[in-house]
Amino acid sequence: MSIDLQARIPNNVNLGEDRRLQRALEAWQPNYIHWWKELGPEGAMSFDVYLRTAISVDTNGWANFGYVKMPDYRWGIFLAEPEADRRIGFGDHMGEPVWQDIPGEHRSTLRRLIVTQGDTEPASVEQQRLLGLTCPSLYDLRNLFQVNVEEGRHLWAMVYLLHAYFGRDGREEAEAMLERHSGDSDKPRILGAFNEKTPDWLSYYMFTFFTDRDGKYQLASLAESGFDPLSRTCRFMLTEEAHHMFVGETGVSRVIQRTCDVMTKNKVDDPADVRALGVIDLETIQRYLNFHYSVTLDLFGGDASSNAANYYTAGLKGRYEETKIEDDHLLPDAEYPIFEVSGEKIVRKDVPALTALNARLCDDYIHEIEAGVARWNRNMERAGLPHRLTLPHKGFHRAIGNFAGHFISPAGEVLTEDAWKRNEHLWLPSPADYAYVQSLMSGRVVETGKFANWIAPPVRGVNRMPLNFEYVRFN
Ligand SMILES: [Fe+2]
Ligand SMILES: [Fe+2]
Repeated sequence: MSIDLQARIPNNVNLGEDRRLQRALEAWQPNYIHWWKELGPEGAMSFDVYLRTAISVDTNGWANFGYVKMPDYRWGIFLAEPEADRRIGFGDHMGEPVWQDIPGEHRSTLRRLIVTQGDTEPASVEQQRLLGLTCPSLYDLRNLFQVNVEEGRHLWAMVYLLHAYFGRDGREEAEAMLERHSGDSDKPRILGAFNEKTPDWLSYYMFTFFTDRDGKYQLASLAESGFDPLSRTCRFMLTEEAHHMFVGETGVSRVIQRTCDVMTKNKVDDPADVRALGVIDLETIQRYLNFHYSVTLDLFGGDASSNAANYYTAGLKGRYEETKIEDDHLLPDAEYPIFEVSGEKIVRKDVPALTALNARLCDDYIHEIEAGVARWNRNMERAGLPHRLTLPHKGFHRAIGNFAGHFISPAGEVLTEDAWKRNEHLWLPSPADYAYVQSLMSGRVVETGKFANWIAPPVRGVNRMPLNFEYVRFN
């Protein structure tokens, strides 16, 4: 079905035929716009930004480019096309037709899953709100804003489900999405990583590489859900998510490339000498990586979790690419290895696969992350430098799961708190690292085709436009 872009709320869910729902969402809309103007990109409301907007959910229509002022972006409700005769693919209801409405017994569980996912979307907009002031180029500024408007749309996607299927509780949850704020001490966002600051562009690229990819894995497992509207909305969100991870992967890669270029050209290796040349030393990049990787792993929840088992058995949240896995999709006797600290060692423990679904999703995520880090390392290889980035041990710097409360080094040794603390700033960014990185980003680079000294230009522009295209007009 095509999207009605003229409607006050663009949608492909026949919103006009459900007046009550339409009125409820239209009542939420001004609150959303108010939130966007208050906590969305700082000082950027009048800019004309070369953005893509979805005009249909098929491959031709979802990326339509043109200049838009962000507050006029057509945020709407877009579900992927329904799959004919779709059946539940796992758990106790396996093989039954998917649900078009919410089974009463799963109502509160589903609400919690939707609220938890939905809360991350406006959180990342809040975390990124000041970055536009220090962008390294118009190309990057445009990409930041594209990610921001789409995270806003992801909030719409979840708010639609709350309004459409959860009655009054859903409306209250939708309001609360705009009342919690990232880092707010009274009303923080639900998940830890979404209350961290994103204070500079290296953090931003790391966030979109690591944390948006957690989003991908969560959305992919919710796309398997027996609740069909949730599955369909997640499937469409995943198409947008790919661009966010692209921004992160290429962003970090360009930072590394620029550093490698400067190191080889000037024959320097010591981090202080590298910094003296105005680029980010590879050691600092490693510490940023360690931080973002570890706080993102926490988003997968406890390694062994009866909640995860219940979501699965009930048919609410599947595994990553559930339908492509060849097993019984019930997992009554299967086991899965998880890891925990025993004395001074990390030991493997095989537990029922049903309870280890968080750990499994996390491991699937880690495999994809490893491939991305290997691609980053090709920059060093090509430059003939011996340096390599590595992922720290899964137990390093964890606040949730089996390693919480333990002091694990990046190499995976179990340390005392003292020993760990002595090395903390070898492993995680120090205040001085943040200060240095931010010192490189004191203002925005706005000349078309120009890039800040600390980052290489991308390989190509957006939508086949040249690098010196005017991606943002400031007016
Ligand atoms: Fe999102
Ligand atoms: Fe995202």
